[in-house]
Amino acid sequence: MNNTFRIGVLGSGQGSNFVAIADAIAAGQIPAEIALVLSDVEPAGILTHARARNLPAHFIPPGQFRTKLDEAAEQAFIAALENAKVDLVVLAGFMRVLKGSFLRSFEGRIINIHPSLLPSFPGLEGWKQALDYGVKVTGCTVHFVDAGVDSGAIVGQQTVPVLDQDTPASLHQRIHAAEHELYPRCVAALARREISVAGRRVIWKHTPQN
Ligand code: GRF
Repeated sequence: MNNTFRIGVLGSGQGSNFVAIADAIAAGQIPAEIALVLSDVEPAGILTHARARNLPAHFIPPGQFRTKLDEAAEQAFIAALENAKVDLVVLAGFMRVLKGSFLRSFEGRIINIHPSLLPSFPGLEGWKQALDYGVKVTGCTVHFVDAGVDSGAIVGQQTVPVLDQDTPASLHQRIHAAEHELYPRCVAALARREISVAGRRVIWKHTPQN
């Protein structure tokens, strides 16, 4: 029997985090396979990257709303992920809020990456919020997805210094680079089943990340 840990990736954009995870799998750093890539946007870089790797990658029309999936779309996403028998849903730049029945279908099995050190600067453009606020250190956070906005238990974080000469674009670029290290590390720990959750605390069996 094939027991490989199966990942479904959802994204709306360029898909650089997807690429980082796919490359880490190809390099043998994550014991998993990408079973499915889904996007609410067509064309989307993430779908192009997935197809270039011969991975199943589909656009699912999101329906009538701007920030969430409508009910038919939500059911279509759930069905596709269930048919692909995914163990973990990885949000990689997926720009819609996931609601009740999606969260219930994959309870405790959805993670997201956010471009700030949560709980600071949730929501849109976390890097710009951090720069405008004047913090000296920001970073990125991988967290489980719950019903709130960027509010689920934190799996891992990586810091990025804010430099005096930073613009929103330069800071965002360095945070993005940090994401490409952090996300594969967190997905690897989950795939190895080395992560346990106690309330809000996510405990790593080995090598606590920085
Ligand atoms: C990342 O900055 C991530 O923090 C946010 O969406 C962006 C996705 O970028 N959730 P990419 O499509 O993976 O390049």
